[in-house]
Amino acid sequence: MRTRICELLGIEHPIVGFTPSPEVAAAITRAGGMGVLGAIRYTKIEELEAALAYMDANVDGKPYGLDIVMPMKVVPGDVPSDLGAYIDVPHRRFVEDVLARFGVPPLPDDVEKPAGITAWMHAFARQQVEVALKHPIKLLANALGSPPKDVIDQAHAKGILVAALAGKAAHAVSHKDVGVDIIVAQGHEAGGHTGEVTTMVLVPEIVKAVDGLPVLAAGGIGTGAQIAASIALGADGVWMGSLWLTTAEYDLEPHGPSGYSIVKDKLLAATSSDTVRSKVVSGKPARMLKTAWTDAWEAKDSPGPLPMPLQGLLVADAEARIRHHQNKELLGVPVGQIVGQMNDVKPVKEVIARLLAEVDEAIGRVARLANR
Ligand SMILES: Cc1cc2nc3c(=O)[nH]c(=O)nc-3n(C[C@H](O)[C@H](O)[C@H](O)COP(=O)(O)O)c2cc1C
Repeated sequence: MRTRICELLGIEHPIVGFTPSPEVAAAITRAGGMGVLGAIRYTKIEELEAALAYMDANVDGKPYGLDIVMPMKVVPGDVPSDLGAYIDVPHRRFVEDVLARFGVPPLPDDVEKPAGITAWMHAFARQQVEVALKHPIKLLANALGSPPKDVIDQAHAKGILVAALAGKAAHAVSHKDVGVDIIVAQGHEAGGHTGEVTTMVLVPEIVKAVDGLPVLAAGGIGTGAQIAASIALGADGVWMGSLWLTTAEYDLEPHGPSGYSIVKDKLLAATSSDTVRSKVVSGKPARMLKTAWTDAWEAKDSPGPLPMPLQGLLVADAEARIRHHQNKELLGVPVGQIVGQMNDVKPVKEVIARLLAEVDEAIGRVARLANR
């Protein structure tokens, strides 16, 4: 299946894959979709530089993208150095109590302290953009809001298209007004930060609201039938995030004693009811695997999450401790409701071949019914 997004992005199939893994992003691109690498995990600029160099060397000259988290609104001063001072004692105590209850000690002295919320900050995202523009990226996507106008202009000057995620039709219209080229209409079912409106309702609403601008459907898409349904709703293609987490190329840390990925195993066993939309990671609602950690934050004795960016600061150390000490009960990951259909580990190439075969099957079925 080819749509205008294929011409626009220079790809074979209308499948765009967001992933924090360069190995997976490169594999998606090589398989004829477009891999979009998430920049947020790179809290050091040289690590992003290395990941982009990896992409350049592993995409066979095919197009790939980069996703940043850059809020359009810049808070004056951006990162007050004493932000931690705004976190009250009951919140700090609650985090320590939960970790003690599950037997999670502090990080050993020789382990690097977590970078906190560096990559969430506007100023740091600007540095990431500066590095990215030196690489042959084809798409620059922004997670939380429209990118600033000058960033859009810089991208356009280099022939790079700009995408932005939207969970409401009004957000999509604002993106269009500021010059964004592609809207990612991301519904409630999605992994990561997500809004209230489901993909089924959101996609046609946004297609109508942006009147001709290309739209990618996102949230709850993990089969070819769901891709076909997205196209039927008016989208030009799909943007998928969760499905790649259980691919063979994804090195999802931490690993248990025999080398298996603890989180991958949890994902493979999870059903579509095992996710929760919680503010525990950042202070804004995001969908993730339901764990003892998310349960603790919803329990009666919880003080409730702090607003962004304080919650991210509050839990940065706890998350690093949970990962380092490999606490199975507390470990989780952002993932969408499609997790219930992520039941085996296959290479990206096979996953995309399976999706394409399912698209044909779904369209064939509908065509046969229509011709009856
Ligand atoms: C592990 C994970 C991390 C994510 N991080 C980001 C991010 O940094 N930036 C972003 O734009 N979207 C992020 N998302 C959301 C995806 O871009 C995508 O919109 C979403 O996964 C689509 O829904 P699905 O999970 O049902 O496929 C993330 C999703 C997952 C599963």
